[in-house]
Amino acid sequence: MRGLDTTPGKAARSSENPPVIVIDGPAGAGKSTVAREVARRMGLPFLDTGAIYRAITHVMLSKDIPPSDSPELRAALAEFTVSFRDGRVFAGGGDVTEVIRTPEIDRNVSPYSALPAVRESLLGIQRAHKRRGLVAEGRDMGTVVFPDADVKIFLTASPGERAARRHAERLAGGGESDYDNILRQVKARDEMDTNRAAAPLKPAEDAVTLDSTGLSFDAVVSLVMEQVARVLTPAR
Ligand code: DC
Repeated sequence: MRGLDTTPGKAARSSENPPVIVIDGPAGAGKSTVAREVARRMGLPFLDTGAIYRAITHVMLSKDIPPSDSPELRAALAEFTVSFRDGRVFAGGGDVTEVIRTPEIDRNVSPYSALPAVRESLLGIQRAHKRRGLVAEGRDMGTVVFPDADVKIFLTASPGERAARRHAERLAGGGESDYDNILRQVKARDEMDTNRAAAPLKPAEDAVTLDSTGLSFDAVVSLVMEQVARVLTPAR
């Protein structure tokens, strides 16, 4: 783990000041599963912001609105709502939990999420979740959405490892999968997410970078929890 913060922590959070923990990184680095587990252990809500970008992509595709700034896009953004209940995602008046994970959404989500109008409209929606503290995962949590987060982790892994994980997930889900194709898509999405002008994927200056290549899920969760404890335990 590089850039580990070894200075004594800030004051422990009180119930009026619950902790905000953010995990950013590229697709397939394991952010969702790790963030979900950290949230469970901390008793905090979990916010999957990729699901919000996926939901908006689904809504735009279903209305035939292309990924460019237009009055139609802005009107759809103004009425967009998303909610999370019992592990399910609701948007555009329906349950979108499964549809937002399809290859069609994988292919289309980057162009919509590169639009400043889309990102701005989602800022308030994301920040509204902060009231009770949270563990949030995405691309720009530490840099743009929650710049004052207590703990910032940048979780990454090699493209090959990330593609292999996604490939295994697809096969386990009973779907068809082609590793080389997934690897190409992982690299293409990294390229777009990293090089876009609006909120590109990059570690916040005060983030701890954690490379999960070759590490087990448990090992990654333990490293994140160590960093959380280090920052949130009051200095003596
Ligand atoms: O984490 P994910 O694969 O579900 O994210 C889907 C896409 O959404 C990803 O390609 C980039 C975008 N995204 C973003 O731009 N900002 C975020 N905070 C989260 C996701």
